[in-house]
Amino acid sequence: MTNISLSQTTIDKIASFCKRVGIAYQSSEIYGGINGVYDIGPLGTLIKQNLRKEWLKALQSNGLDILPFEGSILAPESVWNASGHTENFQDPLVDCLICKHRFRADDIDMTANCTNCGNRSWTDVRQFNLMFKTHVGASVDKSSIAYLRPETAQSIFINFKNIMSTNRVKIPFGVAQIGKAFRNEITPKQFLFRMREFEQMEIEWFCKGDDAKKYFDFWCAERINFYKNIGIDTTKIRLRAHAQDELSHYSSYTSDVEYQFPFGWKELEGIAYRGNFDLTQHSKFSGKDLSVYEEETKESYIPHVVECSIGTDRLLLTVLFDAYQEEQIEDETRVVLKLHSSIAPYKAAFLPLSKQLIEPAEKIYSEFKKKFSIQFDTTGSIGKRYRRQDEIGTPLCFTYDFESLEDHCVTVRDRDSMKQKRIAINDIEGYLINPEKIKNEL
Ligand code: GAP
Repeated sequence: MTNISLSQTTIDKIASFCKRVGIAYQSSEIYGGINGVYDIGPLGTLIKQNLRKEWLKALQSNGLDILPFEGSILAPESVWNASGHTENFQDPLVDCLICKHRFRADDIDMTANCTNCGNRSWTDVRQFNLMFKTHVGASVDKSSIAYLRPETAQSIFINFKNIMSTNRVKIPFGVAQIGKAFRNEITPKQFLFRMREFEQMEIEWFCKGDDAKKYFDFWCAERINFYKNIGIDTTKIRLRAHAQDELSHYSSYTSDVEYQFPFGWKELEGIAYRGNFDLTQHSKFSGKDLSVYEEETKESYIPHVVECSIGTDRLLLTVLFDAYQEEQIEDETRVVLKLHSSIAPYKAAFLPLSKQLIEPAEKIYSEFKKKFSIQFDTTGSIGKRYRRQDEIGTPLCFTYDFESLEDHCVTVRDRDSMKQKRIAINDIEGYLINPEKIKNEL
């Protein structure tokens, strides 16, 4: 068995794979599609659900006080004036005067020719705000302007007082949110990497300014551990500190968790020290005091924030790139998704070897289906069924054969090594609880 080199795993290959197996589709496709917007199919939804679950589990496992939160997507202009997004959340834009193709100015060299038509005639660079603007209610005037949130974070900051007064928490504590964000990206590209509608998983960690660096280092280590635990190849993960000119308007230091995609090292998650910028701004603009009073020290202060922010869809794309492999087995190419079992959409498939065995095999399957995400597949040869499961990342296949009727055993097959072993039907549950255990047994 030989692996086809990873450099051949292009974004186009992953995008068509996703469509073929039901992970993600171009949104509104039957009407010609909408750029930068994707619908997540059944298989992609299962993987995303697992990614969210693992993200939350990682937060809970450190024993810190972290509250869940779900903010609204719409917020009035005043929120975005305070956060600095109306003024600063923009990308430089440039058009080719000949073919009218639009580029992010920082993506191209303007002394070179247009990559679309080959001419060299550019408009001036203009700043383009990435927020989606709308109006709330029947009247269309200045007071009805609202924006779809470009990050989930602000809904946490504007609720800081509510959250503190309705939960008995003390600084330091965190607020974690999973939700949609919207950015009118100039050139949405690279499939799920840069979308116009996407999901973020963010934690805002509120602490004292003096402790911020300590927590920043803590969160950097925690987040790297998270990627390790969901099975991402750690040689393809690195932390990179932002240079001074890369920092967002609210941050004095930030590190990105980057993943080595075939198109280069790219940001997967941002870990940012936001100072007390956000709460200070919202205090100033809303006129509401967002400071906390500490009984022990009799001191009043505005908490500082360390933020960890990751796009769920970008993480989905990352785990797909990390897990997708094409292996040459004799004269056949096997597509296999070597996802860690914690994020695999199905933990196992139950396969009766012949039609006569469907009934007893289905009996076992139906019992486990109540507790586990599993599949039952009766169509095609056993080899074809294995390939189907390999392709969607199912870690284990249990094959029920004629001997099973006598010995009450099944054959369990490991997706990655394709090795098999005979186990008692009574032991199946142990493998479903921990599919990784087979790796030590074969
Ligand atoms: N609250 C901070 C914040 O939003 P960001 O670096 O702009 O920071 C955080 O975004 C994460 O959100 C990124 O690391 C990325 O994973 C994801 N993300 C940002 N823009 C995205 C887009 N257009 N499409 C998909 N994911 C995106």
